[in-house]
Amino acid sequence: MQNIVLVGFMGTGKTTIATAVANRLGMRYVSTDDLIEKKEKSTINEIFQKKGEDYFRAVESSVIRDVSCMENQVIDTGGGAVIRGENVSYLKSSGIVICLAADEEAVMERTKKYKHRPLLNCDDPKRKIRDLMAKRAPYYAKADYTLDTGKLTARQVVDEIVRLAEDMKKAKE
Ligand code: S3P
Repeated sequence: MQNIVLVGFMGTGKTTIATAVANRLGMRYVSTDDLIEKKEKSTINEIFQKKGEDYFRAVESSVIRDVSCMENQVIDTGGGAVIRGENVSYLKSSGIVICLAADEEAVMERTKKYKHRPLLNCDDPKRKIRDLMAKRAPYYAKADYTLDTGKLTARQVVDEIVRLAEDMKKAKE
């Protein structure tokens, strides 16, 4: 089975949905953020603080290149993974890329109680979310499909991804 790759802004539910899809389809759940933390033996906050975002992006690209060589995985990517074209190429070559979308308010609501996202640990996270979303919109638009998580229940999102993955499998047979 080819991979199912979830991309999308922080707080769009990628981890919850990817875990549920992996369980449903008996596929391996892989988080690029977890792999980065393992590889660097540091949290993402520490990597941003001590080595900076460019360093983080370089590690993220190398992790994406590695996971894209393996099959039968549901890959949960970090929200900024799409900003490098090479990442999108590797991910697309490994399977179907699905973007989870949500509006600014929903993202703010879902992220405000957490402190593990360095980009949102700032004075005005709402503004940061708005700016980053606008900047990244053209990159998220490169996904094969987009699902609006604000309009669907988690169950419906999972069902839709399973349907898309089954269609992809049939098309390849
Ligand atoms: C980031 C999103 C995070 C993580 C890092 C940077 C981003 O992942 O990779 O904090 O640039 O949007 P989540 O989308 O899983 O929060």
